[in-house]
Amino acid sequence: MIFLQLVLDLLSFSAAILSALRRSPVLGQKVFMHTVEEFILRQLDLAKLAISEIKMIPSLASEVLKVAQEVLNASVGLCRAYHQALNSESCGMKTDNDGGFIDTEKVDNLNHIATITTCTIDRLYELGILAATGGGSLVTILNVSWKGVVTLLQLTTGDVATKVNVTDILLTLISLATNSLRGAAESWSSTLKEDIALTEAKRTFLPVKFYLINAIRLLSHYPRQAFTIYKEIILCGLMISTFHVSLSKATHLKASSEALTELLEPTSILLLHSILNSVEVNQESKIQILDWLFTDADHTSPIYLEEMNTSSTTSMKEIFSVTCESLPTTRILLIGRVLLFLDLLKSSPDLGEEVRLGIARKLNWLFCCLIDGHVYSIVLDLHMPVVKAVGSASELGWQPIFLSVMHTLKTFMIVVSSTLAWEEVETFLLENLCHPHFFLQEIVTELWCFFVRHAEIEMVKNTIDQLLSILKLMVSSEPALMPGSALRNMARCICMLITNAPQSIVDQVYSSIVTDDRSPTTSIIYINLLIEGFPLNLLSDKLKKLAAKRLITGYHSFMESNVKKLQVDNFSGSCSSSVLGGPVYALSSALHCLQISSSDVDDKTLKFTLALIHGCRNTTESLKDTYCKILNQTLAIISIMKHLYASSQMREVILELHTLFSMRSVPTDARLNQCKPGLALFMAGLSHMNIVEVEGSPVISAICEIYHMLLRERHWAFVHLAISAFGYFAARTSCSQLWRFFPHDAAVSFDIDTGSEANEDRFMSELKAFLEKEVALHEVVPCTEQLAFLVSEALILKELVKKSLTINPEDSVSDTMEIDNENQVNKKRKLPDEISEGMSLLQSGLKIMGDGLSQWQQQNSNSTEFQKFSSHLTCLEDVIAHLAGLAESG
Ligand SMILES: *[C@@H]1O[C@H](CO)[C@@H](O)[C@H](O)[C@H]1NC(C)=O
Ligand SMILES: *[C@@H]1O[C@H](CO)[C@@H](O)[C@H](O)[C@H]1NC(C)=O
Ligand SMILES: *[C@@H]1O[C@H](CO)[C@@H](O)[C@H](O)[C@H]1NC(C)=O
Ligand SMILES: *[C@@H]1O[C@H](CO)[C@@H](O)[C@H](O)[C@H]1NC(C)=O
Ligand SMILES: *[C@@H]1O[C@H](CO)[C@@H](O)[C@H](O)[C@H]1NC(C)=O
Ligand SMILES: *[C@@H]1O[C@H](CO)[C@@H](O)[C@H](O)[C@H]1NC(C)=O
Ligand SMILES: *[C@@H]1O[C@H](CO)[C@@H](O)[C@H](O)[C@H]1NC(C)=O
Ligand SMILES: *[C@@H]1O[C@H](CO)[C@@H](O)[C@H](O)[C@H]1NC(C)=O
Repeated sequence: MIFLQLVLDLLSFSAAILSALRRSPVLGQKVFMHTVEEFILRQLDLAKLAISEIKMIPSLASEVLKVAQEVLNASVGLCRAYHQALNSESCGMKTDNDGGFIDTEKVDNLNHIATITTCTIDRLYELGILAATGGGSLVTILNVSWKGVVTLLQLTTGDVATKVNVTDILLTLISLATNSLRGAAESWSSTLKEDIALTEAKRTFLPVKFYLINAIRLLSHYPRQAFTIYKEIILCGLMISTFHVSLSKATHLKASSEALTELLEPTSILLLHSILNSVEVNQESKIQILDWLFTDADHTSPIYLEEMNTSSTTSMKEIFSVTCESLPTTRILLIGRVLLFLDLLKSSPDLGEEVRLGIARKLNWLFCCLIDGHVYSIVLDLHMPVVKAVGSASELGWQPIFLSVMHTLKTFMIVVSSTLAWEEVETFLLENLCHPHFFLQEIVTELWCFFVRHAEIEMVKNTIDQLLSILKLMVSSEPALMPGSALRNMARCICMLITNAPQSIVDQVYSSIVTDDRSPTTSIIYINLLIEGFPLNLLSDKLKKLAAKRLITGYHSFMESNVKKLQVDNFSGSCSSSVLGGPVYALSSALHCLQISSSDVDDKTLKFTLALIHGCRNTTESLKDTYCKILNQTLAIISIMKHLYASSQMREVILELHTLFSMRSVPTDARLNQCKPGLALFMAGLSHMNIVEVEGSPVISAICEIYHMLLRERHWAFVHLAISAFGYFAARTSCSQLWRFFPHDAAVSFDIDTGSEANEDRFMSELKAFLEKEVALHEVVPCTEQLAFLVSEALILKELVKKSLTINPEDSVSDTMEIDNENQVNKKRKLPDEISEGMSLLQSGLKIMGDGLSQWQQQNSNSTEFQKFSSHLTCLEDVIAHLAGLAESG
């Protein structure tokens, strides 16, 4: 006891001495300096000894800690005082002497101070490690020792820095931080389902923040030393962001996730910035860091291909087992890398020009990651806490990562808008405008819209002009009206952009696409843009009137010139140069956004419809497809032009449609499927018709049978069409005997699980659920099943993207998901035998004709008949050669 008291007194005494020395630091006496050096060392050793044995002396613990802390503080203070004295002395020297003069006494002093400082740093560093493992009671020692280390290292220059291993100290701080986090991960993942309180989470993260802050201070002072261990430093940041995701996933760790957002996220970003922003780290090194951090998204290494275990608690511990060597092949930190990248985008205003440029070049990396199955599901589904500014204060809220992705990308666009990096960003956005993955295309389109809303009008104009000229180029190489083709995609993007543009631009684009009536390119562009939703409603009033007039005139002249021809099976002639049926597509698409007076669309439409139905039933095979598509559009037009349902010809249309859809054969069905979207709309519109419910009325039974056919469809897309049409009809019609309209074996009457038994109650409940769902908004709360579902969806999508990027785009554009496997009977798979047979007949016929022609030529080669015949035969040869080529590739 007495001995301990003695130690205590000794420590207080030395603290007092050190403080006294600090107040009047005397430089110059060599012997004295040496004594001071020895003295400090001894005191610090004593303090360390006392602290390390603190558990043995619980009664005096707090007092010992207090004086030990004073000793530490005082020794730091003394070192600081010496440095100040030295500095003021050297300032004075400079004025007294004219350089060149070397003061041996000063060199001695320098050496002594350097030694004293080095020793102090070493001892404080050791104490810092000791205190870090010593638990809560040593927090004051922890505080004093690490702050002391950092303060002294900030004071000193070259000579001390060579004696102290700064890299080592930095590494220690980083590993203390990750060890604390690892401990938290272990204890939290074992306390399953027990909520962790916010205060406990904060208590856990405070020391981590403390280590990181001190690391950042050192790092900004010694960037070159820090650069040698940039991998370790960044790995720490990656672990924090990955851990953040794991915490957000687990419901019982929500508070911890919030605490991490508040305490560690800003620090972790600062850590990264300190390296990337340092003036002493050269540009190549910074790029090297970005390259190391944001590459290898290809996932070709075997570990990447392993199925990810989505159980959050198991992966939580694994996060902290990653090393710098294993990082490039480790999948588990990938989401952390994505978040870190987003953090860099978000904080890009604080980054240097060259780093921004480096980041802009890595945007492709981000996109590769976003379509990774695991990342995709998390980005879409997982909510994470973010700090939002609310007025002048800030507030913590939860939001999907997807929103952060959009927000940060937009921030980055603004930041780089007038710099060198903009070119990179612009190129990136252009390249990905038609990305085959819908998710990325959505992102890029939204970014372009953001650009259009905020950029200067001249810039917007130029961009849209550029896109239009690309569209023009595409017309020659793409099928004119294929849904999902690159042409349509591009048209869709342009329409989205224009929808966000000022009126003057909308007007200008419209005028440019209607200038040249005769050019087939312009008319294909016109129709594609209308189909993809050109915002006619945004035109100025004058142009709006013109647009409506143009649509109606085109539609009428098309109907008039074709209604007769359809009956004699001689369609097309007049518009072979442009899209077949273009004016019908144009009107049907425009009706959604442009007011067209009902008097402009009259009974002629019904007559035309009848002719089309006739055409669908009775025409050469090659045209049937076109007829069905036009019929689809026409039925959609009728469904919007409600007054047509009152027309006397409507009866006939219904009866004819019924006959058409009663035809049963596989190729006919496949083609007729193309009319079904229009048919469903048409059938819904029947609610506006006054239907007289008499027994045996052919119209009623035709309507019933068409509904029966629609409601029997088993494909989910058709089920949806049919049931929404029927729902609309049932809610508005004056018919009272609704039961007639649904068949006993409607698709939704079946229980998916048990199989075959049809059940009317089920139909009713499904219909009810459907109708309710249409109006109800339901909040999406992420859950494990949803995540798993998104993962599998992402895998399918990624495969599709891979395919469409490697093979001829023309083959893959129509190869969309699931739905089309049933739908696309006319897809190129294997050609029917009849076609090959016909081909060989055609080819042998051609040969015989060629022989005959050469005989004829010898007799009278000058006759005009011969000339005509010969030129036609040459055309025929071309066509057949082309067909043969198609048949072979099919
Ligand atoms: C630490 O020392 C400084 C002078 O260097 C002094 O101002 C401060 O009060 C001391 N703090 C403690 C806790 O002793
Ligand atoms: C750490 O030291 C600073 C002064 O350097 C003091 O303000 C702070 O309260 C201390 N913190 C703890 C936890 O002791
Ligand atoms: C400093 O410490 C690091 C890590 O502990 C070590 O690799 C390096 O060799 C040390 N440098 C010197 C000069 O001792
Ligand atoms: C994921 O980990 C859990 C718990 O360790 C285990 O039960 C499950 O089978 C694992 N799943 C996969 C796909 O490896
Ligand atoms: C088909 O139309 C073209 C041009 O309109 C015309 O020259 C031709 O005689 C028509 N053929 C038939 C069989 O009516
Ligand atoms: C097709 O039209 C021709 C004459 O134009 C007619 O003889 C034939 O019966 C029609 N076929 C069908 C199935 O309507
Ligand atoms: C049929 O018309 C509907 C509605 O206008 C449209 O959504 C659909 O794409 C059209 N289908 C075909 C094959 O043209
Ligand atoms: C064909 O016509 C040319 C002049 O157009 C004439 O020189 C030649 O003799 C004629 N040949 C025959 C076989 O009629």
